[in-house]
Amino acid sequence: MEDHRLNEALKVIHGRHSVRQFQDRPVDDALIKAILDAANRAPSAHNQQSWKFIVVKGDRKRQLAELVTEQSSNFPKPSSSILRMAARSIMSAPVVIAVMNTGTLIAHGTELFSIEKEKAADFFRTMEIQSSAAAAENLLIAATSLGLGSVWLGVLFLIKDKVLESFGEARGEFMAVIPIGYPLEAREGPKKKSLEYVVRYLSIAAAVSAAVIVLSGCGKAGSWIDEQQSAVDKGVQGRTETVNIEALGAVGQNSTAVRRSVDKVLNANDARNSEAESIMGR
Ligand SMILES: Cc1cc2nc3c(=O)[nH]c(=O)nc-3n(C[C@H](O)[C@H](O)[C@H](O)COP(=O)(O)O)c2cc1C
Repeated sequence: MEDHRLNEALKVIHGRHSVRQFQDRPVDDALIKAILDAANRAPSAHNQQSWKFIVVKGDRKRQLAELVTEQSSNFPKPSSSILRMAARSIMSAPVVIAVMNTGTLIAHGTELFSIEKEKAADFFRTMEIQSSAAAAENLLIAATSLGLGSVWLGVLFLIKDKVLESFGEARGEFMAVIPIGYPLEAREGPKKKSLEYVVRYLSIAAAVSAAVIVLSGCGKAGSWIDEQQSAVDKGVQGRTETVNIEALGAVGQNSTAVRRSVDKVLNANDARNSEAESIMGR
């Protein structure tokens, strides 16, 4: 897609696609370091940075490919074929980076949030997975920006314990294994679904409902404001408020009263917000 409004970051995002076969050409250590640094700069739940990156090269990489090939025979098709394809990508790439979750957020999560233990385990595990996924995506984007190809190999999750054992990691959870190298051939990635298909806009409805509140002469914007208040009470929901306030802009001058009321609510919650932000790791 040719779009002159694309800046450098967006061009790189557009240019990223999975690469599964690589040139027999080494990747400079400085580039690998830059990629790792980009991964490490990802957002993370409670700023726990509960990820670990394992750089696998040379003999250890060959052993990993052998392990995956060997284990593939324990699975029926198509997982066995996908595992073997993963092994070929691992062999072909000069370097592989594994991403794993350390478990630190899961271990300390209950100290940060007073929620039931059962809920906490599921909640914080999900937060760890999401944080590491953000790091993995940063990694893929950084590799693309440096002219390198990469592919997220999730299928190794089928043999996750064996993979972590081979890395000498007794704790933590498998997240992804990512071969990196110069692409063997220049190819485009698969087409993505259209935005029309995957996006639903709710802002028009929000604007209309705000208009109804204003037009019904409810000065304080009643329940809508209460909803915002409760959202703020639940944590740092700044983005939600911003979006809704922007949506209110669409209803014109009548929204000023609502906007003022929202500002009042948000200002009154500044103290609570900073408490919440400190829990979130700021
Ligand atoms: C969580 C996850 C797991 C994936 N696992 C594999 C995998 O095991 N093997 C593989 O070849 N590609 C894997 N991929 C890459 C996807 O197949 C690929 O992203 C998708 O086909 C879209 O293509 P693109 O990356 O070129 O846009 C995985 C991607 C994600 C996000």
